[in-house]
Amino acid sequence: MSTLEWQDRYSVGVDEIDSDHHEIVSIINKLDEVMSSGKARDGLPSIMGRLVDYTRDHFRREEALMAQYQYPETDQHKETHKKFIAEFGKIQAALVRGNYAISITLFSLLRNWLIDHIMVVDRDLGKHINHCKSVIGKNMAA
Ligand SMILES: [Fe+2]
Ligand SMILES: [Fe+2]
Repeated sequence: MSTLEWQDRYSVGVDEIDSDHHEIVSIINKLDEVMSSGKARDGLPSIMGRLVDYTRDHFRREEALMAQYQYPETDQHKETHKKFIAEFGKIQAALVRGNYAISITLFSLLRNWLIDHIMVVDRDLGKHINHCKSVIGKNMAA
């Protein structure tokens, strides 16, 4: 797998979400490094654990924003987050069994899926939040 470079098109326009996504990309790259080096595989479960914990916290932060801004697509978005956590569980189970080939394959799929999620689903949430902020701003100025 190649290193994932952060790109402007990944930005959803909301700083707190973008900074979480930056951190997720950086943990993914660390994992990728360890996976492709073929060495230090003992370290894999702990970096994967960090990715899962951080992503779970990030999902909670996004879901709190959905509630705060009464996002209409909240249920579908939360459902997708749940699926991610389930997929992470499969990778962790493969790692525990020492099945690195399967964990690497699953991880590369998950990585692409996560970037798609950021670019489509999270971006839509970002648009909604920015729209609400601009309406609030206009009302306050009026
Ligand atoms: Fe996200
Ligand atoms: Fe999300």
